Amino acid sequence: MKKRESIISFLEYSNENELPAIEKALVGEAVMAASGAYAPYSHFMVGAALLLDSGEVVRGANVENAAYPSGSCAEKTALSFAVVNFRGKKVVSIAIAALADGSLTEEPVPPCGNCRQMLIEEEQRSGGPIKIILAGKSAIYVLENSQALMPLSFTGRNLGK
Ligand code: THU
Repeated sequence: MKKRESIISFLEYSNENELPAIEKALVGEAVMAASGAYAPYSHFMVGAALLLDSGEVVRGANVENAAYPSGSCAEKTALSFAVVNFRGKKVVSIAIAALADGSLTEEPVPPCGNCRQMLIEEEQRSGGPIKIILAGKSAIYVLENSQALMPLSFTGRNLGK
């Protein structure tokens, strides 16, 4: 028997002005995306902005449904759009921000398990890391890749693909 560990490290910035310009701009895109959310049930408006290797930005927001499980997270909306409409391009980073009662949350909002799974699939599909930028008012976390969000994740490799 041996004990194995999976340790993640990430950067914490105290505000967006400390971020490199590209990341700061992407946070701005995520906040803008959040304002397009359809969240009449939770009133929790999440925005995701993907930066592609072409320099293009793809925005997504959560879209809720009266049948709650039919709703979609912001990250899923953005990733699905990018896969379908920008197939030859790589997602290099994603910024996520949420508005509660109309203003940016204090704490950064981490992606849910399903969205982590989708980010990992996209990382595998494109063969490169996707940087994660989680923005809150009191802190911004930056992770170098999506794999860090979900150790021991299930991927196509487990299916022999
Ligand atoms: N939500 C997201 O859009 N992304 C996440 O990663 C977490 C949760 C949305 C789903 C739902 O519309 C609302 O936030 C409250 O859970």
